[in-house]
Amino acid sequence: MWKFRDVISILDYTRDELEHLFSVTDVILERSLDVGKPLDGKIVATAFIEPSTRTRLSFETAAKRLGAEVINLEPHLSSMTKGESLTDTLRMLDDYANLIVIRSPYEGSAKHAADVCEHPVINGGDGTQHHPTQAMIDLYTIRKLKGRIDGLEVGVLGDLKYGRAAASFIYGLTKFNVKRIWLISPEPLSPRPELMDRLKRMNVDFVKTENLEEAVEDLDILYVTRIQKERFPDPAEYEKLRGSYVITKKLLSRASEDLKVLHPLPRVDELSNDVDDTPYQAYFIQAKLGVPVRMALIGLVLGVF
Ligand code: NCD
Repeated sequence: MWKFRDVISILDYTRDELEHLFSVTDVILERSLDVGKPLDGKIVATAFIEPSTRTRLSFETAAKRLGAEVINLEPHLSSMTKGESLTDTLRMLDDYANLIVIRSPYEGSAKHAADVCEHPVINGGDGTQHHPTQAMIDLYTIRKLKGRIDGLEVGVLGDLKYGRAAASFIYGLTKFNVKRIWLISPEPLSPRPELMDRLKRMNVDFVKTENLEEAVEDLDILYVTRIQKERFPDPAEYEKLRGSYVITKKLLSRASEDLKVLHPLPRVDELSNDVDDTPYQAYFIQAKLGVPVRMALIGLVLGVF
């Protein structure tokens, strides 16, 4: 069910398949990430044509911990600077590696890569809607910290239109039975119609609001996201919306003491550093869990788990 399958969208996975990924991750964590070198002799390629810190480095760490070697496309040093197409570039990586992880600003790049490549392709984020492995980490983090995903009230705040981490997370939540999803954003950054349609189709109880105050007391999870400056067609529109929300320790004083704040990171100005030392902080835990979840994922896709 995972073996040699391309990972393009969180929507392609059933709840059972996600639970299986989580159980494998549990075992990896129980063994302090030391599961031998099942990928000895294998090569993982990363093709990131858009900036990344956590996603690329945690994929690289995960692959190396499993014993694989990693080759990284450096787009600014590659023949793409001479005009070589992404398609030709991917063909080469497919000849060199056993697995390709791609990130791109363009919608549909991962699917295109999967069509071009014989080897499995993992989407490390493409365009504005899909970042399936981030959603897997987010869901796993919630399950680990809260013991469950079902029955929780989850707020997702920030850029719900251009933010692919937020969109994928919400899509992922629809695979579980959460109590309610609060969609908190300025009106122009509301989720896209296809995401709203999915929520309605799946009979998810959701509230759409611009006002965090309305939700904060009820939340078990608050998922904060950055306003995606680089994805706005009009920079003036970004300037109008930047700084719409700033999550501070003071603002969270009305929240339940069990509230956990997640953020896919990077943060810019929407999440104050003064939350870092509070029990609400779960975003660094979430980032750290990126390695074991991606180890489980790579191992499953390459058929060694
Ligand atoms: C996100 C992304 O690239 O979509 N980062 C990540 O992978 N953790 C979120 C963002 O850039 O805001």
